[in-house]
Formats: sequence, C-alpha cells, structure tokens
Amino acid sequence: IAHFSAEKSFAGQKVMITSGPTQEAIDPVRFISNHSSGKMGAALALAFAKKGAEVHVILGEGAVKPAHQNIQIHPVRSASDMFQKAENLHSQMDISVFAAAVADYSPKIAAVEKIKKQGETLTLELVKNIDIALNLGYKKLPHQIHVGFALETENEAFHAKEKLAKKNFDMIVLNSMKDAGAGFKHDTNKVTLFFKTGNPQTSKVLPKDQIAELILSGIKSLPV
Ligand code: CTP
Ligand code: CA
Repeated sequence: IAHFSAEKSFAGQKVMITSGPTQEAIDPVRFISNHSSGKMGAALALAFAKKGAEVHVILGEGAVKPAHQNIQIHPVRSASDMFQKAENLHSQMDISVFAAAVADYSPKIAAVEKIKKQGETLTLELVKNIDIALNLGYKKLPHQIHVGFALETENEAFHAKEKLAKKNFDMIVLNSMKDAGAGFKHDTNKVTLFFKTGNPQTSKVLPKDQIAELILSGIKSLPV
C-alpha cells in the first residue's frame, strides 16, 4: 500500500506543460521556428501521468506527443496560440511547467499571399511575442507551483537565477549545453535545478526520463 501511494504521488494534481517549438507565420507557406523536439516536455508529461496527475500538454507543431490515459494534448502553432491555451487552463492548475521553446519574436505582418522572390535582400520586421511564463507568473496563486527552463550559452547560473526571480518560478531547470549529449534533439540531458529557496542541484548526463524523475523530485521537495 505504501509503495502504491508513493507511486501515485501526484494523484489529484492538475499539471500543465508547454512543450516543443512555436511556429510564427511569415506567409501561408513559411514560418520562423527553432530546433526544440519536445522530448523533455514529453518525458515530464509521462512521468507526471504515471504518478497519477491529470496532465495537459500544450504542444507545439512537430513536437514529440506523449501518450497516456492521463494526458490531454492541446495542439498549438504560434506563441500567441500557446499563450491563449495556457491562460485558459492556468487558473485550474496546481503545477505549470514551461518547457516550450517559445519564439521570442514573430513577423509583424504574416503576408496573406506567398511572398514572391524579388530583390537581393529581404527584410522582415519582427515584433516581440508575449512571454507566457512571465505573464502567468504575475497571476500565480499561493498554492500554485511554476517551473521554468533555461538554455544558456554563457553565464549560465547567473541568467538562470535571474529568470527564476523575474518570472516568479519556484524552480528553474538549467539545461547545460556544454556537455556532450545534452540539449535539443538529444535523448540525454544534464541539468541544474535552481530553487527560490535552497541550494542548486546538478545532475549527471542522464536519459530524459530520468531527468524528468529528478525534476518531479525537485517539485516534491518544494516548501508548501
Ligand atoms: N518562456 C515563455 N514565453 C516566452 C519566452 C519564454 O513562456 N515568450 C518561458 C520558457 O518556456 C522558459 C522560460 O520562459 O521556461 C525561459 O525561456 P528563455 O527563452 O530561456 O528566456 P527568455 O526570457 O526568452 O530570455 P532569452 O531568450 O533572451 O535568454
Ligand atoms: Ca527566449
């Protein structure tokens, strides 16, 4: 019995996970995006689902789709679509995990017709997208937990801690780019967990399902 309850340690909890890349339309046939695979978001969704949570994955186009009876997929394309879906779900959630690689900018105008090839150069005007984690961070209720991700190439710890504070996260997961086998597209990852209160924890290079388990343990260790 004790074993069973430990296994279902997120039973009754509602979890939202943003995952994968966003696509920002340039015209009807082209978009701006990034290399996010959604593998980390999918691993997290499965880990929560297996532990009994009701999981909502707001999933960017082309990202890995986790399948489990406790997982509902909400497909989206742009950062703006992702924000709308996340904002709708947020108030009912206990835990929100911001694992998506949201495009920071999108074309100011998505052309209605396919842009024809013309001069030697083409300039696209980009405008800043809404920051989903920051925006929902302002609305976070006392019982709610927010977890963010950071992918940095320099001053990693400094930037991660800055984002933890600015976006009102309880925990942020820093993805280390410096180690082989870590980051986008890979099946392994090396992370450091930073907490609002308490010391950081660094993992070894591990498969993403084991990284997901570490992140869930980190969440369980948060003060309530
Ligand atoms: N994030 C978000 N909405 C955005 C941009 C980022 O929800 N428009 C979330 C990411 O899902 C991640 C965290 O914010 O959990 C940090 O994302 P990151 O791209 O590292 O941070 P930025 O604030 O965009 O800063 P920069 O890209 O300049 O480092
Ligand atoms: Ca960014």
